[in-house]
Amino acid sequence: MIYRLSPSLLSADFAHLAAEMARVGAADWIHVDVMDGHFVPNLTLGPPVVRSLARAAARPLDVHLMVERPSRLLDDFLSAGPGVLTLHVESEAPDVLQSLLREIRSRGVRPGITLRPGTDVEVLAPYLPLCDLVLVMSVEPGFGGQSFLPGTPDRIRAVRRMLDDCRPSCDLEVDGGLTLDNLSLAAEAGANVFVVGHAIFGAPDVPAQTEAFRRRLAALAAEFGGAPS
Ligand code: DX5
Ligand code: ZN
Repeated sequence: MIYRLSPSLLSADFAHLAAEMARVGAADWIHVDVMDGHFVPNLTLGPPVVRSLARAAARPLDVHLMVERPSRLLDDFLSAGPGVLTLHVESEAPDVLQSLLREIRSRGVRPGITLRPGTDVEVLAPYLPLCDLVLVMSVEPGFGGQSFLPGTPDRIRAVRRMLDDCRPSCDLEVDGGLTLDNLSLAAEAGANVFVVGHAIFGAPDVPAQTEAFRRRLAALAAEFGGAPS
């Protein structure tokens, strides 16, 4: 598996998003958190901003939709130009969710599925054959700068076992509370894509911190049999 770093713009300066993306230019993807004020209590940005970010970005956008009933906006998000589009398993009825994941793939975008920390990982099973990425949330979605939930590595392990059976090449991403110190817990459990918000954009030297995360991931890839990006 290729190890990838996906810095989250949630902790960046929203008045200077293009410049903020350039500061993390050494990363692989750019993580964009879309929040609607209903599915989660916070509100961020919508399709027009994702479209502008996609034009300005040198890397694929890794768009994480935290919205109720994403079917209402799916076409707008797809035409905005993401590289990955991830939906919450709690946000639509199962049959709708399956058709949305198929639609994402048919438009040439990587489909992703995610779940809240309190949702049983077994509910993912019917969606795994339709996905290129599973995102395990390691904080309650809604805000940056929270602490990594200690039950997360066991959940990552359980998802990796499910993927080994049906979709071994699927990316397994982890999002929330990651630092240089706890990255190894997620990697050892089987994650290969790492979202980092506050620990990168809150650092005094953002490009240097991005490089530090890249070096740490390269070392972890060597330790756990992954491939550096
Ligand atoms: C939380 C978001 C995360 C968040 C991660 O709802 O999905 O992407 O930005 O940020 P940190 O790394 O600060 O926890
Ligand atoms: Zn996110």
